[in-house]
Amino acid sequence: MSFPDGFLWGTATAAHQIEGGNATSDWWEFEHRPGTPCLEPSGDACDSWHRWPEDLDLCAVLGFGTYRFSIEWSRIEPAEGEWSRAALDHYRRICDGCRERGLVPMVTFHHFTSPRWLAERGGWEAPDAPERFARFCQRAAAALGDLVGWACTINEPNVVALMGYVLGAFPPGVHDQDRRRRVDDALVRGHRLAVEALRSGPGSAPVGLTLSMSDYQALPGGEALADRLRHQSEDVYLQATGGDDFVGVQTYTRIRVGPDGMLGPEPGVPVTQMGYELWPEAVEATVRRAAAVSGLPVLVTETGVGTAEDGDRIAYFSRVLQGVRRCLDDGVDVGGLVAWSLLDNFEWTLGYQPTFGLVAVDRRTFERRPKPSAHWLGELARHGGGDLAG
Ligand code: GAL
Repeated sequence: MSFPDGFLWGTATAAHQIEGGNATSDWWEFEHRPGTPCLEPSGDACDSWHRWPEDLDLCAVLGFGTYRFSIEWSRIEPAEGEWSRAALDHYRRICDGCRERGLVPMVTFHHFTSPRWLAERGGWEAPDAPERFARFCQRAAAALGDLVGWACTINEPNVVALMGYVLGAFPPGVHDQDRRRRVDDALVRGHRLAVEALRSGPGSAPVGLTLSMSDYQALPGGEALADRLRHQSEDVYLQATGGDDFVGVQTYTRIRVGPDGMLGPEPGVPVTQMGYELWPEAVEATVRRAAAVSGLPVLVTETGVGTAEDGDRIAYFSRVLQGVRRCLDDGVDVGGLVAWSLLDNFEWTLGYQPTFGLVAVDRRTFERRPKPSAHWLGELARHGGGDLAG
């Protein structure tokens, strides 16, 4: 199975999940809070703050063409209005390091974590949070913009709002629908201001939002509820992407909805380490939907599977790629696939238990060991296709 020339093949990470010692962020505080839902703190993570050259080497040597990573706002602006040149230089070295290895740097400006000073002022509920975020983007773009290949404003704002303000599983740990709606508005505004800030240059990287999407499947009688859930979690954001250069789709599973609510896994369908169904076809469904609703070119900026069985990962990506190929055959503009994740890393509330990595990381020595799936997917990337499993 072959993919077009120019199709992007990449791997993704996020600062807090791999860097380690990210102590000025709201997540660090959340992990150490009495009664935290987190199974364990992030600690040293994968020590990528120091070992990033090894990560880039792996990504490039395996055969990928792009590396998606996030820059940590709380390191760059550790106190309000106080900017760390050293942190910006650090991320500039990573962008440079990508370029030197032939990797296109795909930079995310907000991946779940915010600085503690902002959290103390109300986080995304602080009246000026969108402006503060845009100011950070502008500073970061001034330092890195000429090297950035793709710019992602806010990673999964819908997850930030849902997990943080309804399910209480992300900071600030709140359960309140009304507050979630206000935070949705703030995140939409933050995204729009960030697009403007990032476009102020230097550089001319395409700018977009990366959204968590699921394939909502209504069972008889569940249609209206499925529409409502999908609308509130996804469309609110897709409708805010007008004028962007692309939309990033990040999909992990389907969600079945009956008349009384969301249903758990269907008997007989395998379940991942995350507790949801292994359902790779959800990527195809959401790519089609994101393209139709936004009218923008689509990139799959994340998909992957938490599993201890690496063979299941190969089967998962094979089915995902078949779906992407069907989209291309139907003329859907999907420009690439970025696998979550390069490394086994800190999976938020679930700590280091779920393993999404193409590469295993020894928790004591930080040694990186590519799994068979890393070599398999890297070969597909190198050749723009090949034999898919199954
Ligand atoms: C996404 C998130 C990533 C990663 C992944 C796997 O929602 O952007 O940070 O955790 O899910 O669960």
